[in-house]
Amino acid sequence: MTPVSKRPIPGVIRQLRPSDLPRFRDHLLRLDSSSRHDRFNGGIGDAFVAAYAERSFARGTTVIGYLEGDEIRGAAEIHECAGHDEPTAEIAFSVEPQLQGRGIGALLFERLLAHARAMGYRHLRVTTHPGNDRMRRLARKFQARLSFQAGEAVGVIALDPLPPVPETRGQPWWPLRMLGFGRGAPVASTRAIGR
Ligand SMILES: CC(C)(COP(=O)(O)OP(=O)(O)OC[C@H]1O[C@@H](n2cnc3c(N)ncnc32)[C@H](O)[C@@H]1OP(=O)(O)O)[C@@H](O)C(=O)NCCC(=O)NCCS
Repeated sequence: MTPVSKRPIPGVIRQLRPSDLPRFRDHLLRLDSSSRHDRFNGGIGDAFVAAYAERSFARGTTVIGYLEGDEIRGAAEIHECAGHDEPTAEIAFSVEPQLQGRGIGALLFERLLAHARAMGYRHLRVTTHPGNDRMRRLARKFQARLSFQAGEAVGVIALDPLPPVPETRGQPWWPLRMLGFGRGAPVASTRAIGR
């Protein structure tokens, strides 16, 4: 039998839309008590989880989802933290219990880092309890510096600043070039479009 960690991952990863709120809430509600404890650092009930999902969407939290069909089965969240000298966000992860240990957390982490960097964040913080080995391993994999404060494990990830806009201004975005709109596009293809 194929080991759990080697089973294919059939879903897709994408940023959630405002209309995904009920699906995000249902995903969080499907976490079992141990995953909920790990995710929220304590035992919490359904009403808290539902209110948390709504609050996150209302505040414009960036949420990246792992979806199988129409259901969200995993999520990575970027919550802006106010009051820091440099743009800083708290990040959090959740993968439904039956799918844990298959690499989905790592895929979500990778995608989250790309989003966070594109949003100009310089520091990301991830907080969990010291006994959450899975999250600690995941954080270490992405070079999070882990420290322990008052019963919590806090990981900090520093992101590089965004590079300046490259010297390609005035040139169309690549798909337009492919359609024949770019500088130096073959005349024949431009004529063909205009015909
Ligand atoms: C933490 C979590 C998001 C990780 O997602 P995942 O899909 O299970 O992660 P991956 O499959 O990519 O594995 C991550 C690491 O955990 C390790 N791992 C998997 N199962 C494990 C287990 N039972 N015990 C310890 N480590 C385990 C993996 O080997 C991997 O480490 P490695 O790359 O060094 O081998 C997921 O387990 C989860 O939702 N947990 C509950 C909520 C939570 O803890 N959130 C984090 C706090 S915000």
